[in-house]
Amino acid sequence: MKKQKPASAESEKAKTPAKLLVLHGPNLNLLGSREPGYYGLATLADINLALARRAEAAGVELESFQSNHEGALIERVHAAREQNVRYIIINPAAYTHTSVALRDAVAAAGIPFVEVHLSNVHAREAFRHHSYFSDLAIGVITGLGSEGYLLALEYLLSRLNSD
Ligand code: DQA
Repeated sequence: MKKQKPASAESEKAKTPAKLLVLHGPNLNLLGSREPGYYGLATLADINLALARRAEAAGVELESFQSNHEGALIERVHAAREQNVRYIIINPAAYTHTSVALRDAVAAAGIPFVEVHLSNVHAREAFRHHSYFSDLAIGVITGLGSEGYLLALEYLLSRLNSD
């Protein structure tokens, strides 16, 4: 029988769907009923479904993960590094303004990411104006509601096409 040639790194890359990870921080499990004036009426399940559909249509693997625990989010970022996740979309929620530990995790993972906020954090209390993530992010989308996640995904899909 003829021996199969080993696939080149380039053709392997073309065959393996790129992996994207969406991380949602604390209290975002309450979306839909949580302060709708700031966060809108879409639930987290609605957002995740819309992202999953768009990713599937683009042939990309996308996983969403929400936690109310800093350590769980940090460990998910560590795992993302092992799994060769190409890009992350992250809404660190309140950890945006407090978590050096989660910032250090994304810095250590070295996975490029887009920071998303549903509300316009700059139009709110002063303590929300500082982010431990923005200077490390590719970019930040803030104040565009749940559409912000889809815009981030659209951007990353076009980036994947040109990678
Ligand atoms: C948020 C803004 C944060 O200040 C807040 O703590 C959140 C959600 C947003 O999506 O607008 O929980 O990240």
